[in-house]
Amino acid sequence: MTNATDQDRVLIFDTTLRDGEQSPGATMTHNEKLEIAELLDEMGVDIIEAGFPIASEGDFKAVSEIAARSKNSRICGLARANFADIDRCWEAVKYAGKSRIHTFIGTSPLHRAIPNLSMDEMADKIHETVSHARNLCENVQWSPMDATRTEWDYLCRVIEIAIKAGATTINIPDTVGYTAPVESADLIKRLIETVPGADEVVFATHCHNDLGMATANSLAAVAGGARQIECTINGLGERAGNTALEEVVMALRTRNDIMPWHTGIDTTKIMHISRRVATVAGFPVQFNKAIVGKNAFAHESGIHQDGMLKNRENFEIMRPEDIGLSGTSLPLGKHSGRAALRDKLETLGYEVGDNQLKDIFVRFKDLADRKKEVFDDDLIALMSLDDDDDCLQLVSMKVTCGTGGQAESTVELEFDGKDVIATEHGDGPVDATFKAIRAIYPNEAHLQLYQVHAVTEGTDAQATVSVRLEEDGMIATGQSANTDTVVASAKAYIHALNRLIMRREKAGPGADTREISYKDLT
Ligand code: KIV
Ligand code: ZN
Repeated sequence: MTNATDQDRVLIFDTTLRDGEQSPGATMTHNEKLEIAELLDEMGVDIIEAGFPIASEGDFKAVSEIAARSKNSRICGLARANFADIDRCWEAVKYAGKSRIHTFIGTSPLHRAIPNLSMDEMADKIHETVSHARNLCENVQWSPMDATRTEWDYLCRVIEIAIKAGATTINIPDTVGYTAPVESADLIKRLIETVPGADEVVFATHCHNDLGMATANSLAAVAGGARQIECTINGLGERAGNTALEEVVMALRTRNDIMPWHTGIDTTKIMHISRRVATVAGFPVQFNKAIVGKNAFAHESGIHQDGMLKNRENFEIMRPEDIGLSGTSLPLGKHSGRAALRDKLETLGYEVGDNQLKDIFVRFKDLADRKKEVFDDDLIALMSLDDDDDCLQLVSMKVTCGTGGQAESTVELEFDGKDVIATEHGDGPVDATFKAIRAIYPNEAHLQLYQVHAVTEGTDAQATVSVRLEEDGMIATGQSANTDTVVASAKAYIHALNRLIMRREKAGPGADTREISYKDLT
């Protein structure tokens, strides 16, 4: 195990649950947040930014519980530059063995104009708020939001103030994904050389991916002297997302010859957490995504396959096992028993209790009856299926299609304990089915995304369907998998509706249910 005080050690600060979760549609439930935090902790993430405690009661509860359950990671919460935010943040993170308050303010000319503060007024505010945070917590991170578009002299001035007020980490956000690698390295290097007290604190880099340079910019910042990278699993985050954890970690590991820095991440946990985040956030990973994409280790062309057989290093710079992908995987079938299923799930990273195993085994048998071979990806899809406590449940459905595209769908749903049936016609089976569901549960939700992926090959392959709905500014995603694409579509739609219902109930009557972003709150 590496020593955290070692000069070459880069701290990994994961913000999947804060910056990632702010991405419209990526909202996770309380239990999902706890699960992801536990996985991050287990994989060796140094600091977990668990949420923005003042943003909502739900965020506060999630951060507090994550803090109370944390094992090795430091738990951090976000707070704007005011006492109420900072106090609320401390209330939530103080339950952790190791806590951090992360407070920020936009320092660029554009961001200074929002609270309409002069440079001097903002400087005073930074001093006051960082000192306040430091009086509560011995570990304080301060961020000048939009640092990469802040005037050089002012940036040096406010960083010096934050350090004097007690900040222990100075984070340099590239909030709009504007910088480039040469500039990123140079900025951090010059700040460390110029700002008095800079050698007493850790410099962090926080990059967004608007120009596709987040990973390169983060690594360049490390070359410039940063020793904390802020990132998210799968690069989840607003717009084009944040730096992807798996990319920076694997780049440092694979090219350690030219980037001689290391992290404390157990890389074999990467694949499992990537899948879980994709599922719970409802953001499927693009097939050709570096490290965790379905094709990242697939070698299809004849030349490549031949080369791989002779020596895998011909075309592979990392081993699939390094990120937790099992090289060969024997499929299960309808004769496989519970022990084999449990064993397989464990190798895929799932720990299941006896009751959960019973439930999954029933679903597995059902799938194995329809599909000869049940592959790892089928099981992963099975593990992300919907919740039995949901208030809308699919009981049965029957679809008939004509050659002209018209289809008829009869859907039976259990809605608040009663069975209701509706038949509708539509432009194809999915359209007819969604209309029938809307006839049973009328709603104004607008379909923002409908996506189908085949989980494995063959005509009996399962399809995973993702549906994203929007209603009054509130977004919910649903997913499901089935060998029948129309059934998977119906279930994914119902799953998204259940999440909308749940969020409406949580917000209470007449509440403003729009997604809250730190930008709205700034
Ligand atoms: O992108 C950004 O500037 C942020 C800050 C809150 C650090 O996420
Ligand atoms: Zn950000």
